[in-house]
Amino acid sequence: MTEKDFVPSAHYDLKEEGKVGFKSPSNIALVKYWGKKKNQIPANPSISFTLDACATKTTLAFKKLKSRGTNFTFDLLFEGKPKPSFAPKIETFFGRILTYVPFLLDYHFVIETSNSFPHSSGIASSASGMSALALCIMEIEKELNPEMTDVYFIQKASFLARLGSGSACRSLQGAIIQWGAHAATEGSSNLYGIKYPYAVHEIFKNYHDTILLVDKGEKQVSSTVGHDLMHNHPFADQRFAQAHKNLTKLKSVFKSGNLEEFIKIVESEALTLHAMMMTSYPYFILMKPNTLEIINKIWAFRERSGTHVCFTLDAGANVHVLYPENEKEAVYQFIKNELVVYCQNQQYICDRIGFGAKRLNVS
Ligand code: DP6
Repeated sequence: MTEKDFVPSAHYDLKEEGKVGFKSPSNIALVKYWGKKKNQIPANPSISFTLDACATKTTLAFKKLKSRGTNFTFDLLFEGKPKPSFAPKIETFFGRILTYVPFLLDYHFVIETSNSFPHSSGIASSASGMSALALCIMEIEKELNPEMTDVYFIQKASFLARLGSGSACRSLQGAIIQWGAHAATEGSSNLYGIKYPYAVHEIFKNYHDTILLVDKGEKQVSSTVGHDLMHNHPFADQRFAQAHKNLTKLKSVFKSGNLEEFIKIVESEALTLHAMMMTSYPYFILMKPNTLEIINKIWAFRERSGTHVCFTLDAGANVHVLYPENEKEAVYQFIKNELVVYCQNQQYICDRIGFGAKRLNVS
C-alpha cells in the first residue's frame, strides 16, 4: 500500500447526518518510536502491547453543511465540557488528513470525548484519543462506501491515526502491534501499524502493565519537540539501527517465551529512549528521582524473588511495571508494599494487554 491507495477513488453520495463512536485503548511500546521524518514517517520501527483499561471513548456526530466549507467546523466536548485548548490539535489533524478524507469540509462535527484514566494523570492520551477519532472518521467513510473491506478499514484508520500521533497507529487492534518498515517482518509498513504476524508464546497472554503515576504534571518537553531533537543527534543512526536489531531479537523471544531476554530488550529500550533525551541538544531529563527509586526496587525484587517483573518508560516520569499473569500475586504485593509510596498521591493504574478498539453503539 502507498499513500495514494488511501485517497478515495470514487465520489460518494453524502449522508445528511449521523453519529458514530469508538472506544480505543492506549498502548505501551516495547521497542520505542523516537525520531521521525516528514509526514509522520517513523525514523525506526516500533512494537507495542495494546492496553485495555486506559482508553478514550469518542463519539462523532456529523451534519451536512448547506455548501462545502473552506474551513473545518466542529464543536469539541471533553468530559462533557467544551475544551477549546484541544481545537488546534484537531485542526492540524484534519488538515493533515483532508486529502484522504475530503468529506471533512462537507460536515459540521460534534466531537465528544472522555478518558477512562484520571484527568491529568501524566498518561499520554494522544494514542487512544487520535485512534478513536480516526476510527470514527473511517466509520463515516464506511457509511458512505459500504463496499469497503474490513482490511482497508483498519489499515486506513491506522494510517489516519498515525497522522494525528505516531503511536496512535498502534492502538486499534490487539494484542501486539508493529509499526514501521522492518526487513524481518513481512507486511510491515511506515504508513500504518500491523498485527504482529508471528508466533507468540502463551506467557505473553494476559501480560500485566501496572502504571505507576510518579509525576502527573505537564511535561517540560513535549514528544513532538523530543522527536525533532533526533535530527542531528550524535547517536541517532546507532539508535535507529539498534531498534531494528531489537525487533529482530524480539521475534525469537516472542516465539520462545524467554523472559530473561525479553527483559533485557525492554529495559534497554526504555533507558535508551531516555538516554537519547539526555544526549540531545538541548538536553533534557523527564525521569524524576522516584522513577529511579522504582527502577532500583524492581531490580532488587527481581533478583531476590526470581520473578520476571520489569519496567518500561514512555516519554515521562511514570513507570510501566510489566509482568506475566502467573506471577501477578507476588508482583502485585510487591508493588503495593514497596512501589506505591513513590507515586504521586499513591496513584497507579492496573492495566494489562488488550485486544483493541471497539465500536460504540450510539444510535
Ligand atoms: C516515547 O506518538 O506521542 O511514547 O507522533 O509526535 O504524536 P507524535 O509522538 P508520539 O510519541 C510517542 C513516543 C513514545 C514511544 C512510543 O510510543 O513508541
